[in-house]
Amino acid sequence: MKLPFLPEAASALASKVDALLVAVTLMTGIVALAVVVLIIVFALKYRHGADVPRDRAPEPIQRRIRRRMEIAWVAVPLLLFIAVFGWGATLYFDHAAPPADALEIFVVAKQWMWKLQHVTGQREIDELHVPSGIPVKLVMTSQDAIHSYFVPAFRVKQDVLPGRYTVLWFTATRPGEYHLFCAEYCGTDHSRMIGKVVVLEPAAFQRWLEVNNAEPAMATRGESLFRQLGCSGCHGAHAAVRAPPLEGLYGRQVPLKGGRTAIADDRYLRDSILLPHKEIAAGYDPVMPSFAGQISDPELLDLIAYIKSLATKEPPP
Ligand code: CUA
Repeated sequence: MKLPFLPEAASALASKVDALLVAVTLMTGIVALAVVVLIIVFALKYRHGADVPRDRAPEPIQRRIRRRMEIAWVAVPLLLFIAVFGWGATLYFDHAAPPADALEIFVVAKQWMWKLQHVTGQREIDELHVPSGIPVKLVMTSQDAIHSYFVPAFRVKQDVLPGRYTVLWFTATRPGEYHLFCAEYCGTDHSRMIGKVVVLEPAAFQRWLEVNNAEPAMATRGESLFRQLGCSGCHGAHAAVRAPPLEGLYGRQVPLKGGRTAIADDRYLRDSILLPHKEIAAGYDPVMPSFAGQISDPELLDLIAYIKSLATKEPPP
């Protein structure tokens, strides 16, 4: 259903958000209308010089009416607001975590463009191709200011922050082209930090991936970086220095020095590379140097993709 004044609804979430918005608008609209109508009616009825009874009602009747009215104007709005809260919260929690099988795509924002990379190596700028009917999860970071990834047709928006990963996900329902905006003021050309999301049928998306496969997969790029930066010197199978093995690491609970634990996710890996002394794996010395300033955000994502690809491998004995 296309509602007037609203952008196209092209994701699984969109119609649910619209339904809530319409319900709240109707509810507040009806109350506002009732107030306006009563103001006009009373203003006319009790206007100066009009011949209408202006006496007070007898005291006992007054008291009974007052009590009932007070109960009504507390109870009715309370129930309505709780219903709206429950509705909104359900929608929010349903959409809080992306499904485990979502297609991952990586976003690096910078002044003033969107750089997008697919796990299989395809890179795009200010344009994102996604399949329809499949949940897509964007893992996003920024190279400079705070940006915000906003696709009105999908009813999704998420801030993109330097130094950490944020996630946004959607299931596009209809092939087509949709606007992409930066929705957080990020400097001179903020208003020009726009692009489009191109939704293709799954088969057409596969073809698009095949036609644009000039670049090696992220994990492959990450593996060569791993060698170039000398990571294999310590984390490799025959390393002289004792460093935590990376095989089977991703997604696992890691015991840390001091008794805490951390989940080895994108955030943990990123911090371990840039701020290696922040969380030391239990049983190891803090000897890893920081790679902050030597490695770009897209490179970091490649490295993480490589470590992720080792998740199913057995650590060496
Ligand atoms: Cu990027 Cu506004």
